[in-house]
Amino acid sequence: MGDPAQARAYAEADFSESNGLFVELFRRLHPASFAGRALDLGCGPGDIPIRIARACPAARIDAVDGAEPMLALARAAVADDADLAARIRWIGARIPSAEAMPARPYDALLSNSLLHHLADPSDLWRLAREAGRPGAAVLVMDLARPADPGAVDRVLAAHAAGAPEVLWSDFRNSLFAAYTVDEVRDQLAAAGIEGMTVGMVSDRHLAVSGILPW
Ligand SMILES: C[S@@+](CC[C@H](N)C(=O)[O-])C[C@H]1O[C@@H](n2cnc3c(N)ncnc32)[C@H](O)[C@@H]1O
Repeated sequence: MGDPAQARAYAEADFSESNGLFVELFRRLHPASFAGRALDLGCGPGDIPIRIARACPAARIDAVDGAEPMLALARAAVADDADLAARIRWIGARIPSAEAMPARPYDALLSNSLLHHLADPSDLWRLAREAGRPGAAVLVMDLARPADPGAVDRVLAAHAAGAPEVLWSDFRNSLFAAYTVDEVRDQLAAAGIEGMTVGMVSDRHLAVSGILPW
């Protein structure tokens, strides 16, 4: 997603339903207004950290992405809001490098739609362990791989009919690249991360949520 046109198409798409769901899941995980420092991995054009910063007026967020065109759109989105611009730091770094967690340990680890992009999904879970303090909230949401190509077509018909070609094919590729709930459970077990809830949270998304052990 380092191509400026692709980043713009992504930023202009309407992800309000899934991004709103992410914020709702975070509020359920952290019912009191979150006032710590969060790390958002693969923040893209920034809609989720912006929504969380608005919902939690004392939160500070380090939002990391490897694609500069995405970060340029994110910076532009808060340019007119001094409060948000002061509380969200946009950080260009590759996950899982150390530059992707500059203020560790964090009080919350967030990520939406990144897991299936990583060549090795264990990178995300290792980074979560290294970046989170004991007791940190973890919320990772991603697409879930449908059972078969027919099910992929049904998700595309329900959620991407009429979408621009670049988004439609990104979405299709992502559905095939995504993991199932059972595969993510296996990833967590292999990473030694215990106590997380893993399950479907919509017809096309799974989520991992919980608190890192004290
Ligand atoms: C599908 S977008 C999701 C963006 C955002 N989280 C959202 O929900 O709208 C995935 C993002 O992950 C970023 N990304 C993928 N692999 C990465 C890596 N290894 N390091 C840093 N960013 C990465 C891409 O640049 C892209 O912005």
